[in-house]
Amino acid sequence: PAAALLLPLLLGFLAAPSPARATDPYAAFDWDVSYVTRSPLGVPQKVIAINKEFPGPVVNVTTNYNVAVNVLNSLDEPLLITWDGIQQRKNCWQDGVLGTNCPIPPGWNWTYNFQVKDQIGSFFYFPPLSMQRAAGGFGGITVNNRAVISVPFDTPDGDVRLFIGDWYKKNHTDLRKMLDDGKELGMPDGVLMNGKGPYRYNDSLVPAGIEYETINVEPGKTYRFRVHNVGVSTSLNLRIQGHNMAMVETEGSYTMKQNFTNLDIHVGQSYSFLVTMDQNASSDYYIVASARFVNESLWTRVTGVAILHYSNSKGKASGLLPDPPNDEYDKSFSMNQARSIRFFM
Ligand SMILES: *[C@@H]1O[C@H](CO)[C@@H](O)[C@H](O)[C@H]1NC(C)=O
Ligand SMILES: *[C@@H]1O[C@H](CO)[C@@H](O)[C@H](O)[C@H]1NC(C)=O
Ligand SMILES: *[C@@H]1O[C@H](CO)[C@@H](O)[C@H](O)[C@H]1NC(C)=O
Ligand SMILES: *[C@@H]1O[C@H](CO)[C@@H](O)[C@H](O)[C@H]1NC(C)=O
Ligand SMILES: *[C@@H]1O[C@H](CO)[C@@H](O)[C@H](O)[C@H]1NC(C)=O
Ligand SMILES: *[C@@H]1O[C@H](CO)[C@@H](O)[C@H](O)[C@H]1NC(C)=O
Ligand SMILES: *[C@@H]1O[C@H](CO)[C@@H](O)[C@H](O)[C@H]1NC(C)=O
Repeated sequence: PAAALLLPLLLGFLAAPSPARATDPYAAFDWDVSYVTRSPLGVPQKVIAINKEFPGPVVNVTTNYNVAVNVLNSLDEPLLITWDGIQQRKNCWQDGVLGTNCPIPPGWNWTYNFQVKDQIGSFFYFPPLSMQRAAGGFGGITVNNRAVISVPFDTPDGDVRLFIGDWYKKNHTDLRKMLDDGKELGMPDGVLMNGKGPYRYNDSLVPAGIEYETINVEPGKTYRFRVHNVGVSTSLNLRIQGHNMAMVETEGSYTMKQNFTNLDIHVGQSYSFLVTMDQNASSDYYIVASARFVNESLWTRVTGVAILHYSNSKGKASGLLPDPPNDEYDKSFSMNQARSIRFFM
């Protein structure tokens, strides 16, 4: 396999804006992108999976790695993958070898080569064409710091990935048709967390039988939550019942550590928070992502609910969700919140 990788890597080196050093390590991935059937909101849907996983696998690499991702398009339409936040030339490798356009035609494969040069942080990839992102195809990219580089916080006890995003029961080809016909998509049918629907926090609002996400933790430990809004259009307010979220990174830059009890995360944004399991585990806790800047009494269904489960938890989460900020039509809270973020120098 090492020999097979050499050629695409060398081509990648030639195409790279600043030449990669051959001494930098490389990581190779083989992906098969296909439809799988899932029922995140209770109705079966075709979603886009990578190696049958939805969300897709995490690309877990270290600063300066050369990355080669061999993508096989098993969908029935052209596919492109965007590596959001990874600093590189646009993904347009029209080097004439395949004689194709940038997207990978159905049934074909293509190897993306890039180097995560001088980068750290939490990013994600997604399929940007034809509303495919409304069907999935996304996953995480983690760029770890090299051991010689100091980090402005203690090494967390664990890493938690959290993809939040609005979701429609209509499939992406129907959604695309609506947009082509000049219609609006309207209110989403829900918010998924790691590809799963809401925990049944209220019997009249959430139907029975929906699979929800559970984050398992140990009391006293501190976890790095890497959160991405992978949705189509909805800004979401994220909160973890009873817990502070100490922001430490956004989009590949460390931030001055600052506690939030909730934070607005807009489509495409990525944040890392340190969350310490410092509560008494009298029950599980809600993790909530709810629609922002809308009339929340009309948009209740656009709420994602996952469960934070301590290993010593004494029972299920129940009762009301933690309140969102009470400022529907006042964007100043959200803007001040964003302005309060300071980069770590
Ligand atoms: C990601 O890579 C880092 C550095 O090699 C390693 O410490 C960590 O355990 C990996 N994480 C996962 C989830 O594989
Ligand atoms: C397609 O996949 C094959 C088998 O994994 C690999 O040898 C080949 O290099 C790939 N082609 C491209 C253009 O990535
Ligand atoms: C989406 O649903 C429509 C019917 O509403 C169907 O014709 C179409 O094939 C579906 N597309 C996919 C990708 O499943
Ligand atoms: C469930 O939601 C409905 C509609 O918003 C509300 O009237 C009801 O009080 C809620 N039930 C509980 C147990 O919170
Ligand atoms: C932030 O929250 C953590 C965990 O709840 C707490 O230990 C720490 O004192 C808080 N920091 C500030 C500045 O409030
Ligand atoms: C745990 O904390 C909750 C919320 O602060 C409180 O209501 C409850 O009494 C506490 N339980 C114990 C056993 O300390
Ligand atoms: C939000 O919607 C509810 C239900 O339709 C309505 O009663 C209320 O007036 C709306 N709130 C605002 C601020 O428009």
